[in-house]
Amino acid sequence: MYFPTRSSLNLCSEKCRTRHGRRWSATRAAPSGGPDDGRYGDRVQHAATRGTAVVTGASSGIGAATARALAGDGWEVVVGARRIDRLKDVAAATGGRAHALDVTDDASVDAFVARVPDCRLLVNNAGGALGVASVADADVEQWRTMYETNVLGVARLTRGLLPHLEASGDGHVVTIGSIAGHEPYPGGAGYNAAKFAVRAVMSVLRQELLGRPVRVSEIDPGMVETEFSLVRFGGDAERAAQVYEGVTPLTADDVAECVRWVASRPSHVNVDQMIVLARDQAGARQVHRH
Ligand SMILES: NC(=O)c1ccc[n+]([C@@H]2O[C@H](COP(=O)([O-])OP(=O)(O)OC[C@H]3O[C@@H](n4cnc5c(N)ncnc54)[C@H](OP(=O)(O)O)[C@@H]3O)[C@@H](O)[C@H]2O)c1
Repeated sequence: MYFPTRSSLNLCSEKCRTRHGRRWSATRAAPSGGPDDGRYGDRVQHAATRGTAVVTGASSGIGAATARALAGDGWEVVVGARRIDRLKDVAAATGGRAHALDVTDDASVDAFVARVPDCRLLVNNAGGALGVASVADADVEQWRTMYETNVLGVARLTRGLLPHLEASGDGHVVTIGSIAGHEPYPGGAGYNAAKFAVRAVMSVLRQELLGRPVRVSEIDPGMVETEFSLVRFGGDAERAAQVYEGVTPLTADDVAECVRWVASRPSHVNVDQMIVLARDQAGARQVHRH
């Protein structure tokens, strides 16, 4: 088992015993006494202070990789998605907990939130694109699903877990947006609209939480090789593979490392927004193929 050191956690000095002590007693009681009773090694103590991280859409791709990266960094991970079998594999690999979650469904989100007694980090990752139809040929149902998943899903989870994030005294919401939320492209309108919208939501949230102990960050990747394109093209593997042909795209682990890094900055540092692209990509529409 990997326990991060104090410096790799970049969290804690002596002062943090006061800052994080409340979390310890509230969520992870030591067998006797507390973190100051001297029976715990420094590394264990500080690993424990990471707290609970909820990752949505963790049954594949960026979400699964993020769960692994966070667990490796000392977080207790709770993962949610619809494909529960795959989710359980991720939970088993990370020592975390898996709960079924459909971010488009109020009842599912309520049931999920009820099973999460505390939370210091929420990674809003569940999302994706459906189709590449032009506006003239828009499939409104696909647009609705994209909005439900990428925008309302984020709103539901954030609203549900915000009380825990704030009560932790040092909460953090990290949302996975997209370069598609910065640069529209033909055939992308439904997805563009959803990712532009979630950027607006994150910006508002950041302003509304100013002065309260919750950070708000957005990570906006370009092309990442996951199941994203397979889903976008309705399971057409050949078409999905073409997206990455002749390109060295980002991997899910690359993005997960961004999340891990953003979440491990000292509490007073808020990385508001991070755009991360493959070297072969210079914008939503500019891709270099070898
Ligand atoms: N790959 C890229 O090129 C790229 C680029 C920029 C941004 N992104 C964003 O990165 C995020 C992760 O995507 P990915 O690339 O890792 O794709 P992925 O491999 O298809 O993963 C998407 C995840 O979202 C979950 N999900 C979808 N609908 C859901 C729902 N209604 N409720 C709960 N979970 C749901 C899926 O789980 P279940 O199907 O099991 O529910 C899956 O775990 C998305 O927000 C996507 O928009 C991806």
